[in-house]
Amino acid sequence: GLDAGLRQPHPLPASPSAGNARSLTILYGTETGNAADLARNLQSAIVDTGMTCTLADMADYKPRNLAQEQDLLVIVSTYGEGDPPQPATGFFEFVEGRKAPKLDQLRFAVLALGDSTYEFYCEAGKRLDRRFEDLGAERLAPRVDCDVDYEEPAEAWTKAIVAQLGAEPRSLPAAADAPGSLRNPVPPVAYDKRNPFQATVIENIPIVGRGSSKETRHVEFSLAGSGLLYEPGDALGIGASNDPVLVATLLEALALTSGAEFELKGRHLTLGEALTHHYEITAATPRFLDYWAMLSEADALKQLQDSDRAGERSVFLRTHHILDIVLRFPVRGVMAQGFVSALRPLQPRLYSLASSLAAAPEEAHLTVAPLRYSLHGSERSGVASGCLADRVELDTTLPVYIQSNPHFRLPGDDAPIVMIGAGTGVAPYRAFLQDREARGCGGKSWLFFGERNFRTDFLYQTEWQTWLKEGRLDQIDVAFSRDRADKVYVQHRMKERARDLFAWLEEGAHVYVCGDAANLAPDVHQALIDIVASEAHTSHEAAEDYVRSLQADHRYQRDVY
Ligand code: 2AM
Repeated sequence: GLDAGLRQPHPLPASPSAGNARSLTILYGTETGNAADLARNLQSAIVDTGMTCTLADMADYKPRNLAQEQDLLVIVSTYGEGDPPQPATGFFEFVEGRKAPKLDQLRFAVLALGDSTYEFYCEAGKRLDRRFEDLGAERLAPRVDCDVDYEEPAEAWTKAIVAQLGAEPRSLPAAADAPGSLRNPVPPVAYDKRNPFQATVIENIPIVGRGSSKETRHVEFSLAGSGLLYEPGDALGIGASNDPVLVATLLEALALTSGAEFELKGRHLTLGEALTHHYEITAATPRFLDYWAMLSEADALKQLQDSDRAGERSVFLRTHHILDIVLRFPVRGVMAQGFVSALRPLQPRLYSLASSLAAAPEEAHLTVAPLRYSLHGSERSGVASGCLADRVELDTTLPVYIQSNPHFRLPGDDAPIVMIGAGTGVAPYRAFLQDREARGCGGKSWLFFGERNFRTDFLYQTEWQTWLKEGRLDQIDVAFSRDRADKVYVQHRMKERARDLFAWLEEGAHVYVCGDAANLAPDVHQALIDIVASEAHTSHEAAEDYVRSLQADHRYQRDVY
């Protein structure tokens, strides 16, 4: 698969080796794979200079080994309210906890990934950077914080680190082919995030019944000719474009014309093309706000700049799209180039793959629920989900790439699986069952599925029923929350089935959770702990340990967003 060589479940203890006198370890914490990709790039860049290094995932790394590390390069992303990636939770708990060792021997550098539309920007990286210093370690280079368009600053950081380490005196000659050195561990992949494949849309249909309160769709792309490979659990990155109506409204509000020529990295584009395909024009960032406050006479905007108004500013940013700011605080004579430089590049959006290549060769299926909401009296849609639902016709193409997700994987053997998901969170489970069926894998499986209404929202109902009949799916429990007055969710069904669920866990089942990160994931997590406590007749603490060790054994994996 694409992540071959990515995971080193048991990283070798770092040892001083060929080209560098001190041992060197790259440690990454990743949720969607960006930090892992950057860590691999860094590794190749280091290996290319003749130095050696070890690559490790925080998910697998024994944090006690920190006391033996000498040079440590950390790449970590941030989620939600300044949280580390979910697979790195254990690492953070140890490092920030009371048992963390003194790190006087350590030199380190941190590359922090984040999203500047959130208040706790790059907070996970900031936390490690602070903590390592507090524990006595020495900073090799200042921390660099990267926004969603992280490629360039990350590359600059990588170059600077490699140059610095390479310039240090070496006690041993550089050996070209030192045994154990990690040289080009990953085969070249032709299409990736920077060089996406133009995939043809071969299916795009609603899969909810008439009268549903949702608009969930099934979308299929052809990957024929791309050579792209993926595993169940991976995601598809999609380069969507902005709504042309929104682009036109924005241009009108700015009194700029769509045909205005303008230059981007040596390429000539029109402003219309830039705003449609290359820049985010919905969510506003602090940088955009700074830019607009500089142009505008409005006191209200200037006041938001005050350093003691961070809370107010973040509320303002959450409730004002770029268009809302432009309309509410009009400015005359805006220049195309200046406006565009205050925007950030349009980022591809990730969707969990709902198919397996073993069952649907050269295809990629997605389950997409368009995001719709209203803001300042107008209806808004998510960039990619709105694009897929409203503007993408059959036989047109969209740029796509595979984002590998090593933290959401079927067991390597035929261990039982328990799949818990609500809404579009059911997507990877369709891939799981397709895959197990196509490979003739005999493992037991159990699905917990939640949605609003049975009649309209039972996504892929006939497929589950066929699998159930054929014995491919052993158990299915559904929770339709809006069919009756009192809410029923997947975690309620899990509790009703506590005894069997615990028996499956004791048999070695792997548990998967996919869907909403804000509410479903913590509620299901709590339900698991409660189930273990009641069925094993143990304390809450012992049940938490049980669930934690499931996580450590990679038997409890989440893909939440
Ligand atoms: P609701 O919208 O009726 O509250 C997919 O969105 C399904 O997940 C819906 O049935 C939704 O219910 C449900 N859901 C909402 N919050 C949840 C939570 N905290 N845990 C589990 N399911 C939840």
